[in-house]
Amino acid sequence: VLGIGSLYEQTKMFTYDPGFTSTASCESSITFIDGDEGVLLHRGYPIEQLAEHGDFLEVCYLLLYGELPTAAQKKDFDYRVVHHTMVHEQMSRFFTGFRRDAHPMAVMCGCVGALSAFYHDSTDITDPHQRMVASLRMIAKMPTLAAMAYKYHIGQPFVYPKNDLDYASNFLRMCFAVPCEEYVVNPVLARAMDRIFILHADHEQNASTSTVRLAGSSGANPFACIAAGIACLWGPAHGGANEAALNMLTEIGTVDRIPEYIARAKDKNDPFRLMGFGHRVYKNYDPRAKIMQKTAHEVLGELGIKDDPLLDIAIELERIALTDDYFIEKKLYPNVDFYSGITLKALGFPTTMFTVLFALARTVGWIAQWNEMIEDPDQRIGRPRQLYTGAPLREYVPLSKR
Ligand code: ACO
Repeated sequence: VLGIGSLYEQTKMFTYDPGFTSTASCESSITFIDGDEGVLLHRGYPIEQLAEHGDFLEVCYLLLYGELPTAAQKKDFDYRVVHHTMVHEQMSRFFTGFRRDAHPMAVMCGCVGALSAFYHDSTDITDPHQRMVASLRMIAKMPTLAAMAYKYHIGQPFVYPKNDLDYASNFLRMCFAVPCEEYVVNPVLARAMDRIFILHADHEQNASTSTVRLAGSSGANPFACIAAGIACLWGPAHGGANEAALNMLTEIGTVDRIPEYIARAKDKNDPFRLMGFGHRVYKNYDPRAKIMQKTAHEVLGELGIKDDPLLDIAIELERIALTDDYFIEKKLYPNVDFYSGITLKALGFPTTMFTVLFALARTVGWIAQWNEMIEDPDQRIGRPRQLYTGAPLREYVPLSKR
């Protein structure tokens, strides 16, 4: 730090923690991770049990309200979400303003932010009722918007929600139904979709959730805060990793080329990283990756895909990496994104939609964390400090003398 302490309060104490590796930004009772043991709990319930026995809307209820719903509460919650799945018809015109080859994540950033211009009656964040309406709207409308982004991307007409279907089935139908043809949702695939949503629902203070909290700490509109989270999620080091992981598997192409890529990942002079490997918090197997691997097998089995070359490469890559000294020493294990791409591809989604699906599922986590922050009596605007490393105080030089 340069010698300007008295001018810029440099004498005040604060921690310097790039990337926030050891700084807690908040107290939270929503999600617990033990990265060394590979444990993930939502409100105390293990992710394995929620993914096995629960459904996504049940997990949404749990994240928002803190307890699993009774049967009556679940029925009421599902009904209220279904009630909000439509988006204003003007939204469809909003979509047409985008280039038709725009990345669906770019479209989602714009469209979700635009909800703030459509729903003025749920933006008073001091009113718990309005906050809950905004939360339900967000959870309900994300599948509709995500499906619209997909349909726009591939040049097909939008499919409206059909609200006697469950959340995941409704989404699959909005994505894959085409005019003049009957579309019957495969329950095994719908269950896999639902499980993928559960696995991505929340993950405590990751980059996008922290972004939502930071944006929300100024009292900003909730829809705009979620749009900020979507923008952050898009990066390849975060939610964009599922797209990057599948692209990497495709690039590897054949099992015999894996050693070449392992060598590149270990080479300090090569910026290449094995996508879908490593995690800031998990220094053990990501528990979601195990469930995702099982889901990938179920989906491929249901679709009768016996030999998926990408799955073969993934399994072999994982096997080699898990026995390699570099990966063992750095505690690099597959994360949730490693197998999700293979599953989503088999379900029929192009890679450009992968991060959109992540955003759809993570919306409940973002909104639950946002609500928790607003309700916190100690909540203050988020305002990180910095270590100034620039020029010391100096005199302005007029343009003619420079
Ligand atoms: N391949 C090869 N080496 C890796 C990888 C990888 N995927 N990930 C980390 N490393 C190495 C780094 O080079 C570094 O080595 P060094 O100590 O010799 O410098 C060491 O492991 C630690 O890596 P950092 O980048 O410091 O770890 P950080 O916690 O900051 O990053 C991250 C975590 C971003 C997830 C990283 O592991 C990564 O880039 N992985 C690939 C992208 C990915 O899969 N992201 C998804 C994350 S999960 C999610 O968002 C749902």
